[in-house]
Amino acid sequence: MATRDRDEHNGFFTVPSRITPKAVLGLLAKPRWLMTLLRGPLPTFANWVDVPGAGKTPQALGAFATDQLDPSVTWSDFDWLRSVWNGPLVLKGILTREDALLAIDHGADAIVISNHGGRQLDGAAGTIEALPEVVDAVAGRADVIVDGGVRRGRDVIKALALGAKACMIGRPYVYGLAAIGERGAELAIEILRNEIDQTLALLGVSSIAALDEQALLSLRRAR
Ligand SMILES: Cc1cc2nc3c(=O)[nH]c(=O)nc-3n(C[C@H](O)[C@H](O)[C@H](O)COP(=O)(O)O)c2cc1C
Repeated sequence: MATRDRDEHNGFFTVPSRITPKAVLGLLAKPRWLMTLLRGPLPTFANWVDVPGAGKTPQALGAFATDQLDPSVTWSDFDWLRSVWNGPLVLKGILTREDALLAIDHGADAIVISNHGGRQLDGAAGTIEALPEVVDAVAGRADVIVDGGVRRGRDVIKALALGAKACMIGRPYVYGLAAIGERGAELAIEILRNEIDQTLALLGVSSIAALDEQALLSLRRAR
């Protein structure tokens, strides 16, 4: 995992998180939010609470999560996955034409162009920059999905006009969730959906399928 100075500084990697005076002041400034948080269940690693060997305490779950990261992973591990899984196989983290071609050679059904939200390798390429060359290299042999920095419906439309099949989001729904819970996550999706419709309407394009380079030119001018 990358070194993230701000997360380190804020005690984010300490399980349970370190409560700093700044965090306490922040909590006290939002009493309604704090009461809702206190009334709900304690935050935990929900995906792993019932996994054998994961442990039960936040510390054990945190250690288990870290343990799942294997830096020695190679294409042969992907080949093994391909050999035991007949369903659609999606590979995330592609940023270049060369890796996209390798992914197809190794049997990926779809690739996700991703720099993991810019939270890992500092200075990695923007995913929207990598999109055209990857779409060109893949030439329809796999679906191309893109993530990282998708914040507006307009961003989704740009990616689709550049040849992506779909977009993924990471932080937007988490922000909604953190603000007001499950309804916040739903709202984040609703906002994106409405903005997608609105952008199509303002472009005068009647469907996603009708998006073309002309639409992209109009969007490039829109800041
Ligand atoms: C809380 C959090 C946990 C994440 N965990 C993983 C992970 O375990 N594996 C992974 O490939 N990406 C992970 N990501 C990255 C997202 O899958 C995604 O690539 C990224 O968040 C997209 O960028 P965005 O946040 O700008 O939308 C995580 C992102 C967040 C916010």
